[in-house]
Amino acid sequence: MMPGKLIWLPEMSVGHAEIDHQHMNIFRTLNKIVALTGEEDRSEIFSLIDQAVEYTINHFAYEEMSMVSAGFPDVEAHKAQHKVIREYVHKLADNRYLVSLDNLEELTRILVTHITEVDKSLSGNV
Ligand SMILES: [Fe+2]
Ligand SMILES: [Fe+2]
Repeated sequence: MMPGKLIWLPEMSVGHAEIDHQHMNIFRTLNKIVALTGEEDRSEIFSLIDQAVEYTINHFAYEEMSMVSAGFPDVEAHKAQHKVIREYVHKLADNRYLVSLDNLEELTRILVTHITEVDKSLSGNV
């Protein structure tokens, strides 16, 4: 198994099919990036990084919209976490020539922690 390989597990489910699906898509994209980190031709990695940024931004917007329309209580706190992660992802994209396995592992850790500790609270509420 390659380092940093991100595996979506059923216990990561937030009980919302579309949100779970979006999490899986983000994982899949990050795994592709990790798999290509040793490649000399960076063009594919760069387009995957753009894709990861897009997926993440769209995903956060979707979650925030779902929370607002469901009248979920802690929207602002959750949004603040999204903002921090969004900034991290943008920073990676801005430094695309320097993206390393360490950065990707850090992003993986941040995302999995967010999903299991924060997104989980959406379960049954959105
Ligand atoms: Fe999420
Ligand atoms: Fe979230």
